[in-house]
Amino acid sequence: MDDFLWWRDGVIYQIYPRSFSDSNGDGLGDLLGIISHLDYLKDLGIDAIWLSPFQPTPDKDFGYDISDYVDVDPRFGTLADFARLVAEAHLRGIRIVLDLVLNHTSAQHAWFRESSSSQENLKRDWYIWRDRPNNWQASFGGSAWEYDPVTRQYYLHLFTKEQPDVNWRNREVRKAMLDIFRFWMELGADGFRLDVFNAYFKDANLPDNPPKFGLRAFDRQRHIHDIDQPEMMPFLNELRNLLDSYPERYAVGETYLATLPKTISYCGNDKLHTAFSFDFTSNDLFYPWNPAWLMKRITRHEEAFNGGGIWPTTVMSNHDLPRAASRYSRDEGDAQAKLAMTLLLTLRGTPFLYYGEEIAMRDISLKRGEILDPPGRKYWPIYKGRDGCRSPMQWNDGPHAGFSTTRPWLPVHPNYVRRNVAAQQADPDSMFNFTKNLLKLRKEMPALRRGSFIPLKTPYGTLAYIRQTDDQSVLVRMNFSKSQVNIDQPAADWRVIFSTSEGAQGTLTPYEIQLFLKE
Ligand code: NOJ
Repeated sequence: MDDFLWWRDGVIYQIYPRSFSDSNGDGLGDLLGIISHLDYLKDLGIDAIWLSPFQPTPDKDFGYDISDYVDVDPRFGTLADFARLVAEAHLRGIRIVLDLVLNHTSAQHAWFRESSSSQENLKRDWYIWRDRPNNWQASFGGSAWEYDPVTRQYYLHLFTKEQPDVNWRNREVRKAMLDIFRFWMELGADGFRLDVFNAYFKDANLPDNPPKFGLRAFDRQRHIHDIDQPEMMPFLNELRNLLDSYPERYAVGETYLATLPKTISYCGNDKLHTAFSFDFTSNDLFYPWNPAWLMKRITRHEEAFNGGGIWPTTVMSNHDLPRAASRYSRDEGDAQAKLAMTLLLTLRGTPFLYYGEEIAMRDISLKRGEILDPPGRKYWPIYKGRDGCRSPMQWNDGPHAGFSTTRPWLPVHPNYVRRNVAAQQADPDSMFNFTKNLLKLRKEMPALRRGSFIPLKTPYGTLAYIRQTDDQSVLVRMNFSKSQVNIDQPAADWRVIFSTSEGAQGTLTPYEIQLFLKE
């Protein structure tokens, strides 16, 4: 094969560990559960797994509040299970990407317990303590400062009050953080997803953020002092040096509230390999699901990433967002999910495929009393939180959808009886087989993986582009409308290699997806 580089040419599959597969019947997914499905993932055709956090956590933000960076939460397994997961994944050519949540720890982390024990403690400066709060707001609501009656100072937390922000200006903290990367690389981790990395450094003087128009108090300020500080760059250089001292390691950053140019500024040969840009992932009101708008977004994203020489990523769903299939479908049909999957797998950039996206899982809906996610509890009913997209994987139509032998931590979607892996594997027209076939094609076609992106002008309701390398051209066409659309038939040297229907020449049937290869 051509020079296949896993994080550039491959597809990264995100697993939310507590929802993927429960091996020990406690209602929570775990590492052994993931191992038991590696053959499934291999058969699906993905190249790497990004694991949302599985380190010890008191679950104030469901894993994104870590109380020990270098261990496995006993509910998810052991370090030995992790080593086995790496070995088994590598055997199958699958890489492992860890989620490192280093902007903040859990308030139960030993560092914070020490830091909050007295103003004189040697780790006092490992967090951000002040006598008086400034105007900063926590993104999950309320002031970003919490008063500690024991040591009579406030500490900073950009998320919940159980997630104190670490003081990255402290040299020992930075050293401890680099040791964490080293620890996991020594255990075989191939890459890292950095949670809200551009918030690591805050303005040293902690000035108030200036006001702006917005709905929530958090949105009514310009976040110029609490994120995106220049000190980030030298740290990224240092981190990249460390990553590059191991073969083929990778880091992708989750930029928090950042503009595209800012996002790109964090990437490069001596910085992160890339950073997410969430171009399609908000709700239909702000991010309408129509081809004209999508093409504008794609072009903007292309200009920014291509212009900056940075390899992009594509994301349709993740653990923070309503699933794409839920955002864009009104019923159980898969037409919209297939369009979203086509964009994910054929745009230029590394696709991040969220567990269950391959069977077009839908969000569960919960009653108020069932909501677990902190922002959902706080803002219900305006915002119902992120539990919806974190429901258990639907493996089969057996009890608890084959996820567990007992009642899972979140309810299984009631549609599991029909919408599950086993049923879809047996149906050639299913979302699962659609995804698997497209993944296979992507692997076979360098143009789909690495080709340039050439947008095409097409009739209203449709979207088309060419992906092109020196030796190969692939044309992708999609009909987003419920009507048949007349469209120019490509010249005779373009051969259909993938299609969702057998429409007549010169037309796209409702929601049809076609790929052509130039002979
Ligand atoms: C971003 C993560 O994706 C989200 O799940 C988490 O709540 C926040 N960062 C805080 O860690």
